[in-house]
Amino acid sequence: MSKTIQAAVDLLKGKLTVLPEIGFITGTGLGSLTCKMDMDFRMPYSEIPHFPVSTIDSHRGMLVSGRIAGRSVLAMEGRFHLYEGYTPYEVSLPVRVMSRLGVKYLLISSAAGGLNPGFKPGDLMLVTDHINMTGSNPLTGPNMDGFGPRFPDMSNVYDPVLLDISMKNAIKTGIYLRQGVYIGVLGPSLETPSETRFFRLIGADAIGMSTVHEVITAVHCGIKVIAIVVITNVNRPDLMKKTSIEDVIANAESASHLLSSLWEEIIINLP
Ligand code: HPA
Repeated sequence: MSKTIQAAVDLLKGKLTVLPEIGFITGTGLGSLTCKMDMDFRMPYSEIPHFPVSTIDSHRGMLVSGRIAGRSVLAMEGRFHLYEGYTPYEVSLPVRVMSRLGVKYLLISSAAGGLNPGFKPGDLMLVTDHINMTGSNPLTGPNMDGFGPRFPDMSNVYDPVLLDISMKNAIKTGIYLRQGVYIGVLGPSLETPSETRFFRLIGADAIGMSTVHEVITAVHCGIKVIAIVVITNVNRPDLMKKTSIEDVIANAESASHLLSSLWEEIIINLP
């Protein structure tokens, strides 16, 4: 294992009273998803060796340890993006740290633009598959054999059992959870009308600048993943409107209460 991962793992092992079963990553405007946690500690990324730091205001940059529904959770309030200048390895480093701490499930949330014309801002979408359009992959370079194989299978990234649990609990809590394909792009510029048309044509329902690298890394480590994105804006190629980051954050924040209730139900019902 690389020394950078080991240093973060060693520090966290010294602080954690119980090793986490569930990893949780929150995104733009979604830091408050950790509000359901019965907290043990909350520490800035800057105190964790070799951890990158969040360079954007809408990401808090705190690691939180605690329990939700009695199950141990290690949560990231804010993530790292390629567009901040971080490498694919740095963006996905926390997932490798979580893997070494024993995490079995990774729950991911992020803000996304809707490409499916039936979507509206504030909708929640369960990711059933993804397209990695970032132009990079976190597994390039020498394979980290201690984590997983050189060519991990990606035919079943979003586990059908976990998808089923997510849908059933959405129905139980009265939440209209949409399903669809997420496409991950590099950013930070938003999409032109022609790019929007193209991404819709190749099968994407939602678009964002995160998630895919974390998911690919989790698959490599053998961690099971569920991703739910908040549709913060809807992009129609023939009727393009300006998207402001303020609207993206505000819409993510307004959906975060609903989303945290859904995550809690899902966590209660994880195998
Ligand atoms: N495009 C890319 N990323 C996004 C968007 C978008 O429209 N909205 C939120 N994240």
